[in-house]
Amino acid sequence: MTNSKNQRLTTNAGAPVVSNDNVQTAGRRGPILLQDVFLIEKLANFNREVIPERRMHAKGSGAFGTFTVTHDITKYTKAKIFSEVGKKTEMFARFSTVAGERGAADAERDIRGFSLKFYTEEGNWDLVGNNTPVFFFRDPLHFTDLNHVVKRDPKTNMHNANSNWDFWTSLPEALHQVTIVMSDRGIPAGYRNMHGFGSHTYSMINEAGERVYVKFHFRTEQGIKNLTSDEAAQVIGQDRESSQRDLFDSIENGDFPKWKMYIQVMTEEQARNHKDNPFDLTKVWFKSEYPLIPVGEFELNRNPENYFADVEQAAFAPSNVVPGISFSPDRMLQARLFAYQDAARYRLGVNSHQIPVNQPRCPFLVHHRDGQGRADGNNGSALTYYPNSYGANQPQPEYKDPALALDGAADIYEFADDDNNYFEQPGKLFRLMSAEEQERLFQNTADNMAGVEEFIKRKHILHCYLADPAYGEGVAKAMGLTLDGMDLTNPYERTVAAN
Ligand code: HEM
Repeated sequence: MTNSKNQRLTTNAGAPVVSNDNVQTAGRRGPILLQDVFLIEKLANFNREVIPERRMHAKGSGAFGTFTVTHDITKYTKAKIFSEVGKKTEMFARFSTVAGERGAADAERDIRGFSLKFYTEEGNWDLVGNNTPVFFFRDPLHFTDLNHVVKRDPKTNMHNANSNWDFWTSLPEALHQVTIVMSDRGIPAGYRNMHGFGSHTYSMINEAGERVYVKFHFRTEQGIKNLTSDEAAQVIGQDRESSQRDLFDSIENGDFPKWKMYIQVMTEEQARNHKDNPFDLTKVWFKSEYPLIPVGEFELNRNPENYFADVEQAAFAPSNVVPGISFSPDRMLQARLFAYQDAARYRLGVNSHQIPVNQPRCPFLVHHRDGQGRADGNNGSALTYYPNSYGANQPQPEYKDPALALDGAADIYEFADDDNNYFEQPGKLFRLMSAEEQERLFQNTADNMAGVEEFIKRKHILHCYLADPAYGEGVAKAMGLTLDGMDLTNPYERTVAAN
C-alpha cells in the first residue's frame, strides 16, 4: 500500500478519525476524556508493536528472489523444484548475525545466518544454514548453553569473554568453527560477499525411492570480501547497518546479488564406510572425495516493501522440506526439527504460516483450526477431522520416505566413542591459509581472548597445537605466552581409551 492524495484516516474498526491533532478534553484547558477512543487505540497499538525478537539471529536483512535450475540432478532427487533445467522458483532469503540483539551492529565478528525459503509447487522448502560449513558442536544439548555464553552475562549485562572461551575450549570439537570465526571469514564485508552452507547432512530421494546423503553449498558470485577487526571497528563507528545497507542498496540499484548452488553427494554405502561420522556437524566432507556438483543459481531481486511484514515476521524451519528432500540422523538437525516451529509459535503465534511471507505459494490444506491470529476463513464449514466417510483430508502415502535402517539399542551414546577426530580438519584449514592470514588468525584470537584466565588460554593453545604445532605456537606468541612446560599430548585420546 502506498499513500495517495485525500486518503481518509479511520480507526481499526473503519470509523472516521475526527481529529489526529487534538484529543477531546473537558473544557479548553481541562484533562482529556477516556472517550477519545482513537487516542486509546493508538496508545494500545503502540504498546504491542514490538514482538519478541528471535532468541539468536535477531539482527537480519531479507530479500525476495528467484532460483533457477542450471543442471540436472533428477537422478538424486524427485523434488519438483529440480525437475528440469531452466525451471524457476520464487524464494525469500534472510541473512543475520547470531549473538547480537535486534539493534546490534552488522559488522561484528560472528557467524552469519543464511536462511532460504523456496516457494515450491510442493510446499515451502526452508534451508536454514550459516556462512560456515560446520558448527561448534554436534549434540543439541549444548545449544542453549552456547547462547548463554555468546549473549550477555547475567550480572554485568556485558559480553563475557571468559565464559565464552571457557565453554568453547571445554568442547574440543568446537575448534573447527572457532578457527573459522577467528579467521578473516569471521567478519564478512557484507551479506553479498559470503558463501552459504546447509551445513548439516540432509538426504535426497529419487523417483526410484533411492536415498543419498547431501550437503548444500551456495557460492557467492560477488566474491568473498572480509573486514579486518580494525576495518570493522571503523565501519561500526560510522554505520551500524552496513550489511543491511549494502544488500538493500545493491538490490534497489538493480545490481542483484547471486549465488550458485552445489551439492555434495554421499551414497548410503559410502556413509557407512566414511572415515568420520558423516552426521557430525563439526566436520566437512572433503571436496576431493565428494566433489561439488552444480545445481542452480539464485538471485535476490526485490526488497521487501515493509521490513516488519516480511523480514521480522519471516519464520524459517529446517522441518519444512518437500518430497525428494529429507533429513538425516544428524543429532543437531533432529533437534532443530522441533526448535524452529516451536520458536515461531512463541514469536508469531500458532498461525504464523498464514503470514504472507511464510505462506506456501501452492494450494495447501491443513485441518488444524482456530488459534490466535487466525486470518483466513478457518476452513469455513469444511470437515476438520480425519478419518471421515467423505474422502476429506486424505493423507498422501505415496510420498513416504524409504525406510532407514538403524543399528543398536536406544541408549545414551557418547559421541566421542564413535568419533574423536577433533583436530584433523581445523589443522587442514589452518594450512590452507597464507602466512598473512595465519598471522591475523593468531592476533584475532589473542585480542578476543584478552582478559580470559590463563588456564583457558592454555587449553585453547593446546587445541590449536594439536591441530598444527604452528597454530598453537602462533596463538601463544600473539598472547605473549610460550609452550614451555605445557603437556602437549592429546588428552582426548585417553578419554576414549578409558571408555
Ligand atoms: C535461528 C534454534 C543450530 C541457523 C534459530 C532460532 C532458534 C534456533 C530457536 C530462532 C528462530 C525464530 O525465532 O524464528 C537452534 C537449535 C540448534 C540450532 C536448537 C541446534 C540444536 C543452528 C545451526 C544453524 C542455525 C546448526 C546453521 C547451520 C540458524 C539461522 C537462524 C536461526 C540462520 C535465523 C533464521 C531466520 O533467518 O529467521 N535457531 N538452532 N542454527 N538458526 Fe538455529
